Amino acid sequence: MVDVILGMQWGDEGKGKIVDFFAKNYDVVARFQGGPNAGHTLYVNDAKIVLHQIPSGIFHENIINLIGNGVVLDPVTLLRECNAVEKMGVDPKKNLYISERTQIILPTHRALDKANEISKGNEKIGSTLKGIGPAYMDKTGRNGIRVGDILNKNFTTQYIKLRMKHQKLLDNFNFQEDISAWEEEFFEAVEILKNFNIVNGEYFINNKIASGKKVLAEGAQGSMLDVDFGTFPFVTSSNTISAGVCTGLGISPQKIKDVIGITKAYCTRVGSGPFPTELHDEMGEHLRKAGNEFGATTGRPRRCGWIDLVALKFACMINGVTEIVMTKADILDGIESLKACTSYKIEGKEIMEIPFQMQKMEIEPIYKSFEGWNSDISEVSDFKDMPEKMKSYISFLNQYLNVPVKYISNGPGREQIVMVENI
Ligand code: GDP
Ligand code: IMO
Ligand code: MG
Repeated sequence: MVDVILGMQWGDEGKGKIVDFFAKNYDVVARFQGGPNAGHTLYVNDAKIVLHQIPSGIFHENIINLIGNGVVLDPVTLLRECNAVEKMGVDPKKNLYISERTQIILPTHRALDKANEISKGNEKIGSTLKGIGPAYMDKTGRNGIRVGDILNKNFTTQYIKLRMKHQKLLDNFNFQEDISAWEEEFFEAVEILKNFNIVNGEYFINNKIASGKKVLAEGAQGSMLDVDFGTFPFVTSSNTISAGVCTGLGISPQKIKDVIGITKAYCTRVGSGPFPTELHDEMGEHLRKAGNEFGATTGRPRRCGWIDLVALKFACMINGVTEIVMTKADILDGIESLKACTSYKIEGKEIMEIPFQMQKMEIEPIYKSFEGWNSDISEVSDFKDMPEKMKSYISFLNQYLNVPVKYISNGPGREQIVMVENI
């Protein structure tokens, strides 16, 4: 049996914290897509750590963590992260398994990402520059190098062949930067990676499922960044939605049970692209400050706005979301009037669907307003003690989305999560 946790917005919904919270109910936590573009923040014994490649179950002693075939892996980032985890008293290698089919991010993928973004000028995606797009292009272009390949004698030849191909592209971009230091650390990291638990991921996970083990699939990015269903071309290069779990781990759709969608109580986006409910005013600034909305991977300020229910309903549909966890509800504390976008007005017409090519449209968000609550909810541990005004906000969301909000996260800490009851 497999449950999924994924982001319903444009990423950074708090997936890391929620995966860490639910992990105790599972035997395996598996990443199925994305790579070091992800930054999942966890608090372990009050110490903060941001995970980019390692699944967020790593701090639980008896949980296996799998990096699935759908992921793109940067060996250098992985090692750096393993060192950070080790410093927090956990042996990261013990419970970490990597699929031999996982694609590897090469130094030249990072260079190509950068060169490509520069060439786009004002139309740049705002990529994290971690080499994600070029690495997935080499996967679908059938050129990529996979983790299993590093164990082969001809790995270096394979590397040089691809590197030469990349060099031609870099020359076309007139990319002049010296990446020899990146290559040096890459080869050092590859040597160490050889000693990790490299497995046939699809048999590994299916055998676990067959023996009754429970798997939690951890999404990266968010549904609106999905390469097919997001705000293309301002998206990432993988399928971030629940369908990606099947291809990213090698499991059948029948194995998937619950799909837990994570949304913030408001909305953020980092990088370029359409964001109908974005606020360019004091309220946007307030949300960024109160929510500490700065990218966990790149440190960039996140764009902030009101919650977008049109986008959330779309995410419920394409993912088959069965329950919702709302994070950062505490950030709305003390705001007099809250808003939720219930439809879009485009060329005078009101619609409740995500249109094709949002970036080319003037979208006016239509809002429903709610009275805010004027209390600090970050210490509340029982839903009955939550402000009534917040309960009506949640109740409206439940009705609109037709999927229940099951938990409210009211702070970054491990224990700051409240189960929604009697609503
Ligand atoms: P992820 O990529 O979805 O895992 O999310 P990030 O880690 O990039 O960003 C979420 C940020 O919000 C992190 O700094 C978390 O520590 C923080 N966070 C998560 N849940 C809550 C919450 O309920 N309240 C507050 N105040 N912060 C939260
Ligand atoms: P987590 O897992 C937020 C965004 C980038 C850029 C676009 C493409 O922490 O939620 P890429 O590097 O993938 O080519 O960038 O996607 N992006 C994210 N935004 N959270 C993430 O991951 C993201 N991963 C990529 O900012 O706009
Ligand atoms: Mg993040």
